[in-house]
Amino acid sequence: TSNKMWGGRFAAGPDAIMEAINASISFDKRMAAQDIEGSRAHAAMLAAQGVIENSDAEAIREGLLTVLSEIEGGTFEYSAALEDIHMNVESRLKEIIGEPAGRLHTGRSRNDQVATDFKLWVRDQFDAAEGALLALIRALLTQAESGADWVMPGFTHLQTAQPVTWGHHMMAYVEMFGRDLSRMRDARARMNESPLGAAALAGTSFPIDRHMTAEALGFDRPAANSLDAVSDRDFALEFLGASSICAMHLSRFAEELVIWSSAQFRFVTLSDRFSTGSSIMPQKKNPDAAELIRAKIGRIFGANVALMMVMKGLPLTYSKDMQEDKEQTFDAADNLMLALAAMEGMVRDMTGNREQLAAAAGSGFSTATDLADWLVRVLGLPFRDAHHITGSLVAIAEGLGCDLPDLTLEQMQEAHAGITQDVFTVLGVENSVNSRVSYGGTAPAQVRAQIARWKELI
Ligand code: ARG
Repeated sequence: TSNKMWGGRFAAGPDAIMEAINASISFDKRMAAQDIEGSRAHAAMLAAQGVIENSDAEAIREGLLTVLSEIEGGTFEYSAALEDIHMNVESRLKEIIGEPAGRLHTGRSRNDQVATDFKLWVRDQFDAAEGALLALIRALLTQAESGADWVMPGFTHLQTAQPVTWGHHMMAYVEMFGRDLSRMRDARARMNESPLGAAALAGTSFPIDRHMTAEALGFDRPAANSLDAVSDRDFALEFLGASSICAMHLSRFAEELVIWSSAQFRFVTLSDRFSTGSSIMPQKKNPDAAELIRAKIGRIFGANVALMMVMKGLPLTYSKDMQEDKEQTFDAADNLMLALAAMEGMVRDMTGNREQLAAAAGSGFSTATDLADWLVRVLGLPFRDAHHITGSLVAIAEGLGCDLPDLTLEQMQEAHAGITQDVFTVLGVENSVNSRVSYGGTAPAQVRAQIARWKELI
C-alpha cells in the first residue's frame, strides 16, 4: 500500500531497500521534542491567523502533548514505513485526535519543519557546550590559582625551553577554551533565525505569521529568504567547526596529560576516578580518559568534513542528501560533551606534583636564556655574542654531566672573563620566572592578573 502522508499519486508502496535507504526515524527520533514544540507553535499561529479553527488548534496542541508523553514514556511505536519523526508524530496525532490532525501541515512543509527541528536541537547543543566549557574553565582556574607560582619546564619542540609556572600553563588552556566559548556564542547568535513558514521553498499563500512562530520558539527573527531557510545547514557546520577547534584543544591537553602522567615525567597524578588498571601488569594506572578524548576527537573532525561534503554539491534548495546532516552532528555533539565532561573531571581531580615539576624546571639548561640576557644586561655584550658564549657554557656543562648552576665561577670565566658571582642569581628557576613580568608573561604576578581577569569575565 502507498504512503498515507504522500501516497496519493502512488499505486505501489516502496521496495524494502527503498524504505531502508530512505527512512531516518532510527536517528531523527532524537528530535521528537523539538518537532512537537515546533508543531505546537505552528498550530497556535494558524489559529491566531484564522487559517484553522481554534478548537482544531487546541485539539492538535493537546494531542501533541499526549504524543510527547508517549514518546517520553517509551510507549510510542516508531514506524520505518513512516520515514521520519515528523510523519511518525503526525500519524500518531491522527490516531489520537482524528480529522483535525490533517490541518496541522497547512502552510508548512517537511523542509521548513526539519530545518526548524534541527536548528532547535543544534541550538541546545551550543548552550550545552557553553555550560561545559564554563565548567572546564572554572576547573582550570582552580588549578591555576593553587599553583600560580609553581615552577615547571616550558617546552618548544617538546624540548626544555625556559621555566614557566604551572598557573601560566593552565591559563594558556583557559585562553584556548575561552576562544571556543566565544566561537560557540557567536555562532549561536548568528543561527538563531526561524526557518518555519518558509514552507517547501517558496513561502506560502496562507496568511501565516512567521514572526509569531519565531518568537514562540525563541528565535530572534524569521529567516529572511525562504529558499535559503530550507537549504541552509551553516548552523550545523558552524557547530561542527567550533566543536572541531575545541576538540583539537582538548586533544592537545589530553596528549600532555598522557605524557605528564608517565613514570618518566610524573608532572601530574591523575585520580583513580579517571584512570584504569591493567589486567596483567599490577603496577599500571593508565590515563584512559585522556587517551579516549584524544581518539574521539577524530569523529568530530570527521563529522565536520562529512557534512561539508554532503552540502558542497547541492543546488538550491532542499535535496534528500541533507537528511545525512543529523547522524554526524548527533555523534559529534555526544562525543564533544563527553570529552568536555571527562576533561573537566580529570582537571578537577588531578594533582600537580610540585617537587617533580620544580626538579624538571631546573634541568635541561632551562635558564640558558637568562644567562645570555645577563651577559647583555650586565656586561653590555651584543645578544648574538651572549648567545654564543652561553652555548659554549651549555656544552661544557653537558660534557661534565651537570646543569648550568653547577658550574664554578672559574669555569664560567673561561667562556668570558668578565663574568662575576652575580650571574648565579639568574640561573635559579624561581628567579627566572619571577623576572618574566612582561604583560602575559609567566611571572606569578602576571599569572594572578590573568586569573583575576578571567574570574571577572565568567
Ligand atoms: N527526513 C527528512 C530529512 O531529515 C525530512 C525532510 C523531507 N523532505 C522532503 N522533501 N522529502 O531531511
